[in-house]
Amino acid sequence: MTDARTWFDANRTNWNDRADIHIDDENGFYGIDRLLAGGILLTEIERAELPDLSGLRVAHLQCHIGTDSISLKRLGAAEVVGLDFSPRALIHARDLAGRCAEDVRFVEGNVLDAPALIGDDFDLVFTSWGTLGWFGDVPAWARAAAGCLKPGGRLYFADAHPAALMFDTDQGDFALRYDWVTPVETPIVMGETETYTGSKRMIANPRTYQWGHGMGRVLNAVIGAGMRIEFVNEHDGVPWKIFDIATRGEDGLFRTDDPRVKFPLSWSFAATRT
Ligand SMILES: C[S@@+](CC[C@H](N)C(=O)[O-])C[C@H]1O[C@@H](n2cnc3c(N)ncnc32)[C@H](O)[C@@H]1O
Repeated sequence: MTDARTWFDANRTNWNDRADIHIDDENGFYGIDRLLAGGILLTEIERAELPDLSGLRVAHLQCHIGTDSISLKRLGAAEVVGLDFSPRALIHARDLAGRCAEDVRFVEGNVLDAPALIGDDFDLVFTSWGTLGWFGDVPAWARAAAGCLKPGGRLYFADAHPAALMFDTDQGDFALRYDWVTPVETPIVMGETETYTGSKRMIANPRTYQWGHGMGRVLNAVIGAGMRIEFVNEHDGVPWKIFDIATRGEDGLFRTDDPRVKFPLSWSFAATRT
């Protein structure tokens, strides 16, 4: 029977495979060379919306191979703790932080257990690009994020827009394919054999279970977890080639240039723990 444990295990196995591909960064998607040269890899969206990180204690949920965790430290954070459930991703993250000479701590575990794993008194919880779709239970995710924050601490979130995720991302034209909200008990079963970086290396364990979440579901969960929404923004760019026709701008974000209509490719919000 397929259940939450099966979904979790399959997704973690898949992310272990992807982490090993991503760290090699054959085509530069992850910007490892720039990071090793001292760069900061956060997108213009995050750079514009994050507060001054000087002196802040930051929890980075779903830190993957640590590229953004290292970048957050370089933006002045006093402390950065990255959390991820993929042991392979964390091996690479620790190695990368060492090679970058940045002091970042990485902890293995499920985001839904985050407060117990990393603590409850962070100034900022940061999570971005490809995170919430790995959870069916959004209220549980929001409680975990809020639970890592001290009162007055802030959650920052940026990800693909729910409207953009309704389309088949493999087709040049926009074919509607997915409901904008996925029921918790029936995740979308995916079987991508190649990862989003453009690497041609095959993912050995392609099966994953994912969920689409409308903005209402997400924001109501955040409010229900005791947070006050500070802002919600929608953007025309996203940091990966979400559609075949998307092209990369000078700022590194991919945008579509469809002559028919414009629609948002990503969104972001911040919320404060009350
Ligand atoms: C798209 S990546 C992270 C995004 C980040 N912007 C990046 O590219 O470095 C998604 C990450 O979520 C992690 N992940 C998925 N489900 C998780 C869970 N339940 N708990 C902790 N980490 C999880 C995966 O291991 C993966 O590293």
